[in-house]
Amino acid sequence: MENSIFDKVVDRNQTYSIKWDALDKVFGREDILPMWVADMDFLPPKAVLDALKERIDHGIFGYTFVPMSVTEAIQDWMKQRHDCEFKKSSILFSEGVVPSISTAIRAFTEKGDKVLIHSPVYTPFFNMVKKNDRTLVTSNLLIENGRYELNFADLEAKLQDDVKLFILCNPHNPGGRVWTKDELEKIGDLCVKYNVLILSDEIHSDLVFKPNVHIPIASIKEEFKKITATFIAPSKTFNLAGLQASAALIPNKELKAKFKAVQDQQGFFTLNTFAIAGMEAAYLNGAEWLEQLLAYLDENMNITTNFIAEHLPALKPMKADATYLLWIDCRGLGLSDEEIQKQLLEKGKLGLEPGTKYGEGGEGFVRMNLACPRETLNDGLQRLKKAFS
Ligand SMILES: Cc1ncc(COP(=O)(O)O)c(C=O)c1O
Repeated sequence: MENSIFDKVVDRNQTYSIKWDALDKVFGREDILPMWVADMDFLPPKAVLDALKERIDHGIFGYTFVPMSVTEAIQDWMKQRHDCEFKKSSILFSEGVVPSISTAIRAFTEKGDKVLIHSPVYTPFFNMVKKNDRTLVTSNLLIENGRYELNFADLEAKLQDDVKLFILCNPHNPGGRVWTKDELEKIGDLCVKYNVLILSDEIHSDLVFKPNVHIPIASIKEEFKKITATFIAPSKTFNLAGLQASAALIPNKELKAKFKAVQDQQGFFTLNTFAIAGMEAAYLNGAEWLEQLLAYLDENMNITTNFIAEHLPALKPMKADATYLLWIDCRGLGLSDEEIQKQLLEKGKLGLEPGTKYGEGGEGFVRMNLACPRETLNDGLQRLKKAFS
């Protein structure tokens, strides 16, 4: 097979990488291959590297502002990539999607208010609700034919019980589901009916495999737009998490003002120099690179699921519509979560995320990050085999 730019193995050790340099702290040992936290072992698009280098070469790193060109780049990206129109005036910036979720919780709810999330789901959803002294309500996802489905009866029962805010993860981490238009419409209609605001975390929305299509919930109906804050970022798409750049798209003026007021209260006023340069270059010039990335990730997904089917039939990976994260059902092994981790670390020397980190329903699962060169992937798969054979 022809070499791909994504085949290049880059040594990430000694770069203060959480994934590679914090192994002792996270897993209690350093002799493992890390395939856990959600960043990629790939270089970003050349256009992004060039923009960052140009900024470094300039050499002065004083106070900056986010120029209108970045707002326009985001607006165009949302229109071209996701067929969703946002006015420039609805676009705000933030250092991350998790900080935005926390800001929105504070801005749109009061202490003690109920906030609903799915379970299992991305860990900080639980933490942000609890750390802001709101009342956490969860609706467990169902597994049908080996993939996640929404439990609408449960969702409706909970939404009507005085929930103020619902945090949606679309595409879903860790399950990789891209929620369909029909599903999103039902969620939106319920939120309208019961007067519940929506935070839509769409950080994985660019990493969708064909024929699946990501639909921003705000794009479905005008009334959904009025109750939704949508969060996006170039961090997952272009591997720029360390730059700390994201956007909050909030068309409802009143909600936007509330969000902005909390940002002001926290003293947040702009993005850093590199976030601005990287974000602009990525959204303006990263589309072609992204297509190549998606083809590579899709193949990594296929290689992994085929390998597991052949060598580890007790493991059942969930088919991912999106993301580079594979959510693997290990319940067929008959091991406890502790035993699964022990075997992964001691026998396989492989660092994966334990499913228990993602809340109820995550027991017996592990999450494997496949965003790495094939050489690393093959090494990881051999280790997975060793762990459980
Ligand atoms: C669903 C989801 N939201 C947010 C984040 C992190 O966002 P940020 O780094 O912008 O705070 C992640 C990272 O894994 C994620 O999976």
